[in-house]
Amino acid sequence: MQLIDGKNTAELLKNELAIEVAARKEKGFKTPHLAAILVGEDGASQTYVNSKVKSCEQIGFASTLKHLPATISEEELLKIVEEFNQNDDIDGFIVQLPLPNHIDADKITLAISPEKDVDGFHPSNIGKMVLGLPCYLPATPFGIVKLLEQYNIETSGKHAVVIGRSNIVGSPMSILLARNEKVGNCTVTLTHSRTKNLKELSLQADIIIAAIGKPEFVTADMVKKGAIVIDVGTTRVPDASKKSGFALKGDVKFDEVAPKCSFITPVPGGVGPMTVTALLFNTLNAAKKKDK
Ligand code: GUN
Repeated sequence: MQLIDGKNTAELLKNELAIEVAARKEKGFKTPHLAAILVGEDGASQTYVNSKVKSCEQIGFASTLKHLPATISEEELLKIVEEFNQNDDIDGFIVQLPLPNHIDADKITLAISPEKDVDGFHPSNIGKMVLGLPCYLPATPFGIVKLLEQYNIETSGKHAVVIGRSNIVGSPMSILLARNEKVGNCTVTLTHSRTKNLKELSLQADIIIAAIGKPEFVTADMVKKGAIVIDVGTTRVPDASKKSGFALKGDVKFDEVAPKCSFITPVPGGVGPMTVTALLFNTLNAAKKKDK
């Protein structure tokens, strides 16, 4: 069994990005600028956004964090999105999800200019992804593609079972794995909470992408010997032994599943750090579009 180290891989790729950004600055090109909008006080969202900002600093990107109160109206938030759309210095920006219930997240996503939508959530980018056209790929699936690439994992002809059909992970992941690309050419089964014979399907999987948001959902009896298991789960569960008061739990029961795998990602330190790195790649590409 080989552990896929997302933390190290992310650092490696961020070092490469830092070198490219430094070279761009020498040539007089614009410093890539990522902005993030965070609404409210959700602890997990704050952690994710802070890590995005910190990663920008680490590799020489400019970053802006707009932290807004949970009471902000949809109209006010739309105004700020429009300001960011119009601000030429910002190459790409994200609105961290989830948003408070009184705000329609779909409406906000639609308001983001597709050219600046480095999360790849706008229907225009999703449509392009489905058609295999140049676009911003959603950060988590893109990060997983990069992880498989870095570990030289052959995916062609393999049966991938994706567990979870969210708009930001499961559904786009299933599309990317089926594409005719180096990481791709899989036969994909997309499963979800209503799938009846999930264990029967997961036992046939050469690759399992667990993205259902249920801690330790994937158990050893669901996994074929030699499978590649990618765990996207990041549920916070109370843990008094931790300084933060919680531990991050993946969707895979790691201790019993790992011995059966050829490759597996841990939580934390697997997919999570790659998501941020993928977002940085999208932002660099956004900045490059302005190069003359
Ligand atoms: N919430 C959970 N994951 C993400 C992500 O990748 N982007 C944004 N904007 N919000 C998220």
